[in-house]
Amino acid sequence: MTKAKYADYLESAQYINNIIKETPDIAVILGSGLGEFAEKLSDTVIIPYRDIPHFPTSTVSYQKGELVFGKLTYENGTEKRVLAMNGRFHYYEGWEMWQTAYPVGVFKLLGVEKMIITNAAGGIGYNDTRELVPGDLVAVCDHIKLAPDSPMRGANIREFGARFFDMQSVYDKELIKIACDCAAKRGFALKEGVYAYMAGPQYETPAEIRALKVLGANLVGMSTAAEVIFAAQVGIKVLCISCVSNMAAGITGAALTESEVLDTAATISERFKHLLSDVIELI
Ligand code: HPA
Repeated sequence: MTKAKYADYLESAQYINNIIKETPDIAVILGSGLGEFAEKLSDTVIIPYRDIPHFPTSTVSYQKGELVFGKLTYENGTEKRVLAMNGRFHYYEGWEMWQTAYPVGVFKLLGVEKMIITNAAGGIGYNDTRELVPGDLVAVCDHIKLAPDSPMRGANIREFGARFFDMQSVYDKELIKIACDCAAKRGFALKEGVYAYMAGPQYETPAEIRALKVLGANLVGMSTAAEVIFAAQVGIKVLCISCVSNMAAGITGAALTESEVLDTAATISERFKHLLSDVIELI
């Protein structure tokens, strides 16, 4: 399919803007098993993806496929307007890579400046004494994407940014610091790690995981990288939090299943919701 034009992004954004009528303080992309966060929002407006012109529609059965716009209200009276994507688009579903990142261009046109991305990921671990275990939350500080495609491949939309752009500061250090401080206040450690993107949908082989570890990856997953790349082009700051849903292939020898991924995400859902809402208050 040919890449979307700037006019398509404008049309999507206008449709959403006519409904929400306010600039979101933050956009949040909710990953596998982490969609419950949207229930924390009040005064919500729900926009199904299928109603938004040019928007892809989610095909993952347990992901909802809707934008949820609503408020988080804090004890001190602070209010934050949150635009949450409940369900995202994956390359393995058959979308082109630019389609998986399409919402980020729309967010930019809605005036979004900061974005939180969440995902479930396999834990690879570290090349030192630090450990990762299922249930850990990890702030992604960088990524490795060996898959050759890019959401920015093809004609560049100049309104969004330069043809060639820097990727060194998209995972915003200040946002990571805020998230680590919030986790510490809640009594747990938010680890930091490098996320390796794999196209999937098959989980990795043990040899692939050994190779990724040598390359410096601590986590592995099938999402996020495309959205982060588009965010870098348009200058949206990203905080990405991965939930370690399982140990990556070959580490424990256990077979990997989708239900393990979803079960682990469900067990940390409370902690995760608190962390997101604490971070959003401060950014
Ligand atoms: N590999 C790839 N993607 C994943 C994994 C994994 O082990 N766990 C959750 N998403």
